[in-house]
Amino acid sequence: MTTTLTASQTVGSALHSSPAIDAAIRTIRHEVETKQRELTGARPARAELKETLDGWLKRAAEVRGRGPLYPYLGSGVGNGALVELVDGSVKWDLINGIGVHMFGHGDPELVEASIRGSLSDLIMQGNLQFNADAIEFGEFLAKEAARSSKMKHCFITNSGCMANEAALKLCQQKTNAAPRIIAFQDCFMGRSTTMSQIGDTSAYRQGIALNILVDYLPFFDAEMGVQRSIDMTLWHLEQLIHRYPGQHCCLIAELVQGEGGFNTAPREFFVALFEAARKAGIPIWDDEVQSFGRTESMFCFERLNLGEYIDVVTVGKITQACACLYTAEMNPKAGLLSGTFAASTSAFATGLSILNRLKSGGYYGPNGKIAKLHAAYRQHAEAFVAKHPAWFTPVTNSLGRTNTNYVAGTGGMMRLTPFGGNREKIGKLLNNLFEDGVIAFSCGHGPYHLRFLPPVGVMKPEQFGPVFEIMEKSFARTM
Ligand SMILES: Cc1ncc(COP(=O)(O)O)c(C=O)c1O
Repeated sequence: MTTTLTASQTVGSALHSSPAIDAAIRTIRHEVETKQRELTGARPARAELKETLDGWLKRAAEVRGRGPLYPYLGSGVGNGALVELVDGSVKWDLINGIGVHMFGHGDPELVEASIRGSLSDLIMQGNLQFNADAIEFGEFLAKEAARSSKMKHCFITNSGCMANEAALKLCQQKTNAAPRIIAFQDCFMGRSTTMSQIGDTSAYRQGIALNILVDYLPFFDAEMGVQRSIDMTLWHLEQLIHRYPGQHCCLIAELVQGEGGFNTAPREFFVALFEAARKAGIPIWDDEVQSFGRTESMFCFERLNLGEYIDVVTVGKITQACACLYTAEMNPKAGLLSGTFAASTSAFATGLSILNRLKSGGYYGPNGKIAKLHAAYRQHAEAFVAKHPAWFTPVTNSLGRTNTNYVAGTGGMMRLTPFGGNREKIGKLLNNLFEDGVIAFSCGHGPYHLRFLPPVGVMKPEQFGPVFEIMEKSFARTM
């Protein structure tokens, strides 16, 4: 039967507002939510399903040529911070695909957004053909960023790494192909051949032809003293500028280092460096792929009041589609940025749903949900450290200074440093935690830390109770 359209309707808008589709989605949501309610806490694997998981993992290893890090294979059902695996076990997921699933597993609103996205004629949207949601997604980020910076434009990509590749190109074009890059020790930027070279992890660039010129700065070191640390890094930056005048296309900074160890720095550290870089005409690029949405403001630069310095910022992970945002001055010439894919229609639909909820859901600010969840984490973690001093021994940082900062991080980026930051022991602990029902990961390059990227959108402060009970058991059998 042909739809009767009003003068201002298209067939597409009639489809998207169809009462029959609304009713079908309500039925699906109800069914999903009913099943999810069966997941109420961590539980062990079922013996009869062990072979199912083992079989899948064997297939995964064969097809990839390498086994996965964890024996993880989801059943497709989760409930907030809880996820069910195909062996019937239920686990607290405190890593969420390295920070992607901010609203946890199977969030009903995201299930709905995803279904609505899947009704679209386009599975993937690109730079030649796209629908309104691609524009809305870019507009949302550009507008949000512009509240406290000079950001104006947004180029969408389907990975954080490709957002970074776009950012680097803008910086290079802006500086007439200046060949060098200034980055921070311990940074991580993705896995393309270029980003693997900038990222400060030797294993990630093993066997790659090194053709990128990177100069590293020491990151902030509170143990050294705030002013001394600022002075030292500034001294290094000034040396570089003096040594290679006009040769740097950018200063790239993660305002909170992710992979590098959830390292933070105060505003004055970045101000000193950004002032010097700006004076030397070096564009400033802020990589927020991991931290975006997770701290006490949507963009980290906003919380640190650094927006005026930023020329380019990249975001990803929780946004589902990734993006490179830039000022009008950084807008490149035609032809520099494009690609077949921008992102899937489902990624735009869920990404927009996430961004809208984050904006209006009371997540940000010193009394927002993220700050409260972080406070709950610290309370539990500090009590845990006090109760088990044998598991927490002083940590020596990469510059040789010793500290007892066992509990650290900011917002939804939480870290814990047991066993003096020893890599092997933390690796063993992570496996025990997984088996016992908590999925976490590590960060840092020595010292190593336990890394938590919990689903801050849905995790409740009281849920750290059962999580730390499991941790107690896993720590005890790691010793
Ligand atoms: C700071 C940072 N930049 C870039 C990336 C790369 O993003 P992707 O893995 O989506 O390519 C990551 C990923 O972890 C990251 O943490």
